[in-house]
Amino acid sequence: MKSLLIIIFLLHCLLHTTNSAENSTEVLTKFLANVNQNLATLYNREVLANWQLEVKGPNYLYALLQSELTSEEIMNYVQSIAPKVTKFNRLNIGNPQQQRQLSQIPERGYEALSPADLKLMYIVTKNMGDIYKNTKLCSYHDRKQCNLTLIPSVQHILHNSNDVAEIEYYWLEWRRKTGMPAKQDFMSFVELYRKTAQLNGFPTPSEFWYKDLEENSAQTATLLESFMQRLQPLFQEFHAHVRGKLRKLYGEELIPRGKPYPQNLAEIFIGNAFRRADPEWYIEFPYPEVGMPNITSGLLRRGLNNAQRVFWNVAEYFRSMGMPQIEDTFWSHNARPKADLDEEELRCWHKAWKFYGIKRVNFSYCPLVDEERFFNMYEALADVYYYRAYDQQPTLFAEEPFPNFSDGLGKMFSLSASSPRYLEKLKVLERARVSKELRINRLYWQGLRTIFLIPVFYVLDRYRVDVLDERLNISDNCAYWQLTTDFTGAEPPVSRSNEDFDAPAKLLIEVDDQYTSQIMSTVLQYQLYQHFCEITGQYKPNDENYPLDLCDLSNQRQIGPLVMEAMSLGSSKSYKDILQIMTKESAINMDGLLAYFQPLYEWLVEQNRLDDVEIGWEPTRKCS
Ligand SMILES: *[C@@H]1O[C@H](CO)[C@@H](O)[C@H](O)[C@H]1NC(C)=O
Ligand SMILES: *[C@@H]1O[C@H](CO)[C@@H](O)[C@H](O)[C@H]1NC(C)=O
Ligand SMILES: *[C@@H]1O[C@H](CO)[C@@H](O)[C@H](O)[C@H]1NC(C)=O
Ligand SMILES: *[C@@H]1O[C@H](CO)[C@@H](O)[C@H](O)[C@H]1NC(C)=O
Ligand SMILES: *[C@@H]1O[C@H](CO)[C@@H](O)[C@H](O)[C@H]1NC(C)=O
Ligand SMILES: *[C@@H]1O[C@H](CO)[C@@H](O)[C@H](O)[C@H]1NC(C)=O
Ligand SMILES: *[C@@H]1O[C@H](CO)[C@@H](O)[C@H](O)[C@H]1NC(C)=O
Ligand SMILES: *[C@@H]1O[C@H](CO)[C@@H](O)[C@H](O)[C@H]1NC(C)=O
Repeated sequence: MKSLLIIIFLLHCLLHTTNSAENSTEVLTKFLANVNQNLATLYNREVLANWQLEVKGPNYLYALLQSELTSEEIMNYVQSIAPKVTKFNRLNIGNPQQQRQLSQIPERGYEALSPADLKLMYIVTKNMGDIYKNTKLCSYHDRKQCNLTLIPSVQHILHNSNDVAEIEYYWLEWRRKTGMPAKQDFMSFVELYRKTAQLNGFPTPSEFWYKDLEENSAQTATLLESFMQRLQPLFQEFHAHVRGKLRKLYGEELIPRGKPYPQNLAEIFIGNAFRRADPEWYIEFPYPEVGMPNITSGLLRRGLNNAQRVFWNVAEYFRSMGMPQIEDTFWSHNARPKADLDEEELRCWHKAWKFYGIKRVNFSYCPLVDEERFFNMYEALADVYYYRAYDQQPTLFAEEPFPNFSDGLGKMFSLSASSPRYLEKLKVLERARVSKELRINRLYWQGLRTIFLIPVFYVLDRYRVDVLDERLNISDNCAYWQLTTDFTGAEPPVSRSNEDFDAPAKLLIEVDDQYTSQIMSTVLQYQLYQHFCEITGQYKPNDENYPLDLCDLSNQRQIGPLVMEAMSLGSSKSYKDILQIMTKESAINMDGLLAYFQPLYEWLVEQNRLDDVEIGWEPTRKCS
């Protein structure tokens, strides 16, 4: 009798749980529908406000207020649903698609901190930014003139100086005035970040740091290490070449053999490749007499002299790859010029604006016509396609699969468009110009902008993650330099110690910006390019008539449907599944990047041999 009762009781429990599970699945379905709708409304309000700021100017107070208010509302909303999200996650119910939607609901992030901690977080991050913005240095030549900001004043001086003492003076002054003053704030930031990670339910701070990358931090670290390893031969040859150039400029005493190069001098050299357009004014090319083609004047010669003409020309390029045609009314209905041109800094770009739950993409354009904005148009139009392709996805899936994924895809298209073969077809480039020398010059310039950044980005993230997870002590300044030297081949120009704090300024003003996704996006760009070029026969490994750097994807109609299918998934699948659709491989790898720069690699090896420059470097002894 007693056991029967127990059985009945157990049965009751069992039935009850199945029922409530069914019910809670229904509840989950309703919850997600609600979240998708509420987020769409809030996001749209925010996008609209930011769009108005772009086309009416940053002084449009109504939009400025609206934008700030809406971000606060979004935070409040995310905060309000957080307990339910936690509960649903614990219940482990719903089908895989619903579980993925749950995982894509934004975290509370810093909002999970107590009000006092949140306020402190705000203060320390603002302090670090202010130190950077407000620090003024005294002029090297006139120590009484003390109004030099890093950007643009000091930057300008450095770009035009070859006085080593002057360059070193600014390097040291800058660190003296910003490093130590920011250290305490940085330590507070680290403490608060650790708390934030814990409050958001992450086992370690680095898991929180890498949360958007779909892999745990150990897997991400392994992936990054594999990138660094594969890049090493190319990086070391390029490093040796740059060190040789620096030695010619500054002499053997400052740039000794077999040692890391001084960071400040190398930064100026490499930084020249990042100056706006007209690279031949700043860079000594492998073949100076060949130089680089002037794309801007080519565009003007072709009559591509306003943004609208450029837009339709680029739209034709996408159509030729089998992407849907953009309707004639798009420009007049959706495009507006950017209001604040900022011509001096040239921070003026084309940009697509997505909305949620409605089929609408706005477009703001920079009215200037030059090489940079020409290639930027390919990236902006790729975004138009991307946003349209996933506009039927629920809000939680109307995103890219990881941050900067869409940048990688967009840059893949602009890379293909920058191929001399395509530019020749467009008649922007004259026929006879595509020589081996021109190709090397182009790869050299691209290489300076690409290959040197990857180790720098790697160190930025590696340093912060190691500090956050307590593998590295903030007071151990020499550990920072060891990472920097090991991976970037650079050392401080003067002796440093653990009494100094040299974490780079970039890290302090954008203290929680994650760089790994930018590395992944760069690697992805070349991987996709190699794959698409190979399946269309535009790149044939070991056939010198079809090298990767000349591959032109225009008119390759099989590309469009593949890309559109991947784009239409938004973030409903992991990036690996999406990569699988496009390339039949699910892992991001360096093959494409290395294949692309192979001719440059060969040139560097030969040139380094001729110049008799040494490869590689010893560990630094400049910090103890
Ligand atoms: C939960 O399931 C029970 C049993 O089937 C049902 O009677 C009840 O109405 C359901 N509740 C909800 C809210 O659907
Ligand atoms: C967000 O929530 C706080 C605290 O509840 C409230 O004071 C504030 O007005 C809310 N902000 C908005 C924009 O709704
Ligand atoms: C998951 O459940 C939702 C809501 O019931 C449904 O719309 C969707 O089609 C389901 N997805 C899969 C893959 O079964
Ligand atoms: C800095 O001060 C000097 C003279 O004191 C002045 O000529 C110069 O224009 C100032 N520079 C800036 C950037 O304010
Ligand atoms: C390229 O052409 C543009 C427009 O004609 C011109 O302004 C620019 O100075 C040229 N650049 C070089 C390096 O000659
Ligand atoms: C931009 O989008 C908003 C919201 O859909 C719309 O009201 C507005 O008219 C659009 N602007 C342009 C220029 O298309
Ligand atoms: C990477 O993504 C972030 C956030 O999505 C964005 O702010 C940043 O500009 C992107 N970086 C690049 C190089 O596109
Ligand atoms: C970091 O180093 C400083 C100075 O050597 C020391 O006082 C502190 O205890 C260290 N912190 C940790 C967490 O090891």
